[in-house]
Amino acid sequence: MCGIVGYVGKKNPVSVVVDGLRALEYRGYDSAGIAFLDNDNIKVIKTAGRVDDLVKLVDASGSYASIAMGHTRWATHGEPNDANAHPHFDCLEQIFIAHNGVIENYHDLKKDLIKRGHKFRSQTDTEVIAHLIEDEGKDVPNTPIEELVLKVLPKLKGTYGLVVMSKGEPNKMVAVRNFSPLLLGVGNNEYIIASDASPILKHTRQIIYLNDGEMAVVTPQNYGIVNVFNQLVQREVQHVDHTIEMAEKGNYPHFSIKEIMEQPDALRSTLRGRLLLEEGKAKLGGLEEKKEIKEKLRLIERLIITSCGTANLAGMIGKYMLEEYAGVRTEVDLASEFRYRKPILDEKTAVMVISQSGETADTIGALKEAKEKGVLTLGIVNVVGSSVARMTDAGVYNHAGPEVSVASYKAFTSQLAVLALYTLFLGRQRNLSLTMGKRIVKELLKIPDLVEETLKVAEQMKKIAEKYLPYRDFLFIGRKYNLATAYEGALKLKEVAYVHAEGYGSGEMKHGPLAMIDEEFPTVVIVPQDSVYEKNISNTQEIKARRGPIIAIATKGDKEIGKIVDDVIYIPKTLEMLTPILAVIPLQLFAYYSGVLRGLDVDKPRNLAKSVTVE
Ligand code: G6P
Repeated sequence: MCGIVGYVGKKNPVSVVVDGLRALEYRGYDSAGIAFLDNDNIKVIKTAGRVDDLVKLVDASGSYASIAMGHTRWATHGEPNDANAHPHFDCLEQIFIAHNGVIENYHDLKKDLIKRGHKFRSQTDTEVIAHLIEDEGKDVPNTPIEELVLKVLPKLKGTYGLVVMSKGEPNKMVAVRNFSPLLLGVGNNEYIIASDASPILKHTRQIIYLNDGEMAVVTPQNYGIVNVFNQLVQREVQHVDHTIEMAEKGNYPHFSIKEIMEQPDALRSTLRGRLLLEEGKAKLGGLEEKKEIKEKLRLIERLIITSCGTANLAGMIGKYMLEEYAGVRTEVDLASEFRYRKPILDEKTAVMVISQSGETADTIGALKEAKEKGVLTLGIVNVVGSSVARMTDAGVYNHAGPEVSVASYKAFTSQLAVLALYTLFLGRQRNLSLTMGKRIVKELLKIPDLVEETLKVAEQMKKIAEKYLPYRDFLFIGRKYNLATAYEGALKLKEVAYVHAEGYGSGEMKHGPLAMIDEEFPTVVIVPQDSVYEKNISNTQEIKARRGPIIAIATKGDKEIGKIVDDVIYIPKTLEMLTPILAVIPLQLFAYYSGVLRGLDVDKPRNLAKSVTVE
């Protein structure tokens, strides 16, 4: 993971980089550092802790020459201390490196470098790169830094987004990518390199997304992009539409609550222009613009959805939709499993990956595996131009806007909406009737308003979070469409409030977890009035009989549930397949307030990062 920013241009480079690091802190926040040109010297300041801790050590208002780079870290190799913070440098302090990714063979490289007299200052995998470049340059003084870097790359096994500065060529910055994202913002006589678009957008909307094996060489006057053979490559500059304001907190105390509250708008934007009521179907440019893809989709008999974290839970709900209404056999697999087992894939199978960031290493690994086998690959991605978006054969963007909070909220509900769109699309190519198609479209059109209505439970959820604050263990249970909603409720509570929680199938309680239930062990039951309502009620009764406290998420107007449980949160009625979009809202709020009441940094939970670009 980790976030990198580099700046070459006339603005104060230190303040541009520090600003950019703040925008990228969601990618990792164990330690931070900066390297900048100060007179003729490249100065490095780095520290354990957050960007705020770095800022205390850096005089961002000073006057500096045209170049600086910075890094915010999520530790993989070496604990998060000052020495392991990036940038790293060689023995002679000539070569400076900021790195995102993992150098898998660093151990052997390091052993060899130490044998040859190199002195290491950190436990990181990254530092070997600086020493390797130093070695390459030893006997060939004045070799351009990009040539030295290109000589080192074949020695590295693993993934990297790498930014390099050299004291010998202090006005040049080199950025190279291999499975860790790097973007180049092309401004007016200024260039910004970053791990995502957020640090760039303040300065320019013109962006080049580097491909694997491409290197940008940037000076104050110009930039060039070369491949690993140092041949120039022509890359198109893309205009990025979303604005920086979309990624700012506004009046909210946290990105988390902002992103929970903006779900109605995010969903409006996901659905906009994509629903055809009269035809009872979905219009999805990304699946239709290539005729051969549309036709291939018609022939698909089986779908494997693979992804990580919350995205994978969205996939589990999608399976129920796709099988019930589109008639497509669907399997769901964790990307970290899919890529290492031997999935059976044939020409009637398509693989769908779901990823908010489009940069999750395991998801990309699974996607590569699917591509290797030659099957059709589909995507549901929020970040435009991200690796997954570019690698899949076809896909649908979420258009949910930037998601900054490490825990995923609006991306999840938006992913569910896109899965419903896929269901309509594939269903209408198959046996889904016009009448049922129209019904789904009608209900989907209402969903943003219903989410808005559901969000009114925020105050109630805050009170419930207060009431249940003393409890340290929770069960979340649900069935059918809401089994994965229960998983998501438990996941949110764990990651945001550090409270032990398990998601379980209501019907499975009697096969084990019921043994844990007593007055000290609350259960959150998701029990909307759907096709499994009665079954769910029986399971709820079984918990009540063991005196377990119960919070229920139920359908508005359900008078019976209040008689069984301790607290009820009502959600509006909708089509069964869409209930998770509403039922998850109180669970998100419960996790959020449980974290806030415990005084935790809910936007950046400890040990986590938003974009998991390592395995
Ligand atoms: C991290 C985030 C989760 C997210 C998961 C997958 O663990 O904290 O919120 O669900 O990665 O991320 P992706 O960007 O692929 O959806």
